[in-house]
Amino acid sequence: MSSLALAVLVSGHGSNLQAILDAQCRGLIATEIQVVISNDPKAYGLMRARRFRIPTEIVPHQQFLEREQFDTAVMNVLARYQPDLVVLAGFMRILTPAFIQAYRGRLLNIHPSLLPMLPGLRTHERALHAGLREHGASVHFVTETLDGGPVILQARVPVLPNDSVERLTRRVQTEEHRIYPAVIGWYAQGRLSLQREQVWLDGAPLSQPLRWAPL
Ligand code: GRF
Repeated sequence: MSSLALAVLVSGHGSNLQAILDAQCRGLIATEIQVVISNDPKAYGLMRARRFRIPTEIVPHQQFLEREQFDTAVMNVLARYQPDLVVLAGFMRILTPAFIQAYRGRLLNIHPSLLPMLPGLRTHERALHAGLREHGASVHFVTETLDGGPVILQARVPVLPNDSVERLTRRVQTEEHRIYPAVIGWYAQGRLSLQREQVWLDGAPLSQPLRWAPL
């Protein structure tokens, strides 16, 4: 069976990239990361890719006056690699509609909250301040609404008494590293698609996001 060609976009630490790499290397998902692209030359995710001899590309966003120009530059890089699926893994740039439309149904993101709760930044801090009892992470298809695309899979974690942002972040990230490779694996098996605004899995639309339940 041929493997699914991935491009992974990172801006920082790249722990989700690492989880995908590990799943790929262990043969758990039928993927091949063709390229890792970053807007930040210092992103540690680039180091992780190099360690696995995966091509890296840097498109520094500061070099572009307009978002559209930056996105065109990233799309030009992607055009050279022709990925089947583009995976945003801690990519901290907001993509323009032209980019999103070009990769519609082939563009995934992971967000550190139980969407639609807490879109945007600093979600762990905000979860603590809001006194939430439950928090988590969501993998979703990217559409034009920021952090608003249809959610595929979510993992929930408890918010514990006296939790710190660091502890809560770690608890959520542990789950992120499980759910992102899982969803990518489903996509690689041809089980997952976006049709209009709805997620389809195994030939049927999802009425609500799936909840991660370890096997
Ligand atoms: C993750 O928490 C992810 O949900 C968010 O950005 C963070 C990236 O972490 N989109 P890493 O770079 O994968 O370690």
